[in-house]
Amino acid sequence: MQKEALIKKAEGKIPRHIAIIMDGNGRWAKKRMMPRSYGHKMGMERMIGLMERAFELGVEYITVYALSTENLKRPKEELDGLFNLFRNHFKQYFGRVCERGVRLRAIGDISLLPEDLQQILHEAEESTLQYEGKGINVAVCYGARDELVRAVNIAVEKGEKVDENGLSALLYTSGQPDPDLIIRTGKEVRLSNFLLYQAAYAELYFSEKMFPDFSDKELDRAILWFSKRTRRFGKTDEQL
Ligand code: IPE
Ligand code: IPE
Ligand code: MG
Repeated sequence: MQKEALIKKAEGKIPRHIAIIMDGNGRWAKKRMMPRSYGHKMGMERMIGLMERAFELGVEYITVYALSTENLKRPKEELDGLFNLFRNHFKQYFGRVCERGVRLRAIGDISLLPEDLQQILHEAEESTLQYEGKGINVAVCYGARDELVRAVNIAVEKGEKVDENGLSALLYTSGQPDPDLIIRTGKEVRLSNFLLYQAAYAELYFSEKMFPDFSDKELDRAILWFSKRTRRFGKTDEQL
């Protein structure tokens, strides 16, 4: 669908912040009798395409779940494959999206990554520091519980009590709007330790597609579905 037609059909209700749990790369590859690493590569390429489409439609922030703290328990071979994918393609892929004025933030416990990868992420972040308004968060070695524990410890060390906004400001996503729409592919219906605090009022969209098959058309479908939700934030319809 043309961009303008979609925005019109959605009555302009485009989510400001979309977060994506890109799940199903492994099963997608297995079905094709290919190694899991191939699924991850195709998933990464698809993710870049989706980001381009989302920004084109007016989305301001995109958070992608690339690696969870729990994923660090996967076999070494798979992790090495994922790290190599980041080593070889991160700059090229993210550079393509970010050069259009998108600020990149790596969220998660980056110190758990090999040092050269930490460096790649820092450099990518630094090269986009001048951009404002549009942002990509790449969640690597990310766990929402870990994020919350870290935030609480920062507050404790400062000896400060925090309110809801204060706690938000200590999260990796500080300063950004909470996700309006969280999409999970791969048939599973769970959050797997993703953005537990920020997801308080997100609309949750679950797709049966394995991530590499989640096309731009599927994203359009999710956004249209989102535009039809009534977001009451606790109020009644009459109060809206
Ligand atoms: C999600 O795909 C990507 C990462 C966790 C890195 P999976 O690797 O979990 O794919 P499935 O769920 O095994 O199909
Ligand atoms: C969630 O997918 C993490 C990412 C997409 C990076 P998983 O495949 O790890 O989730 P679980 O373990 O099935 O819940
Ligand atoms: Mg999975």
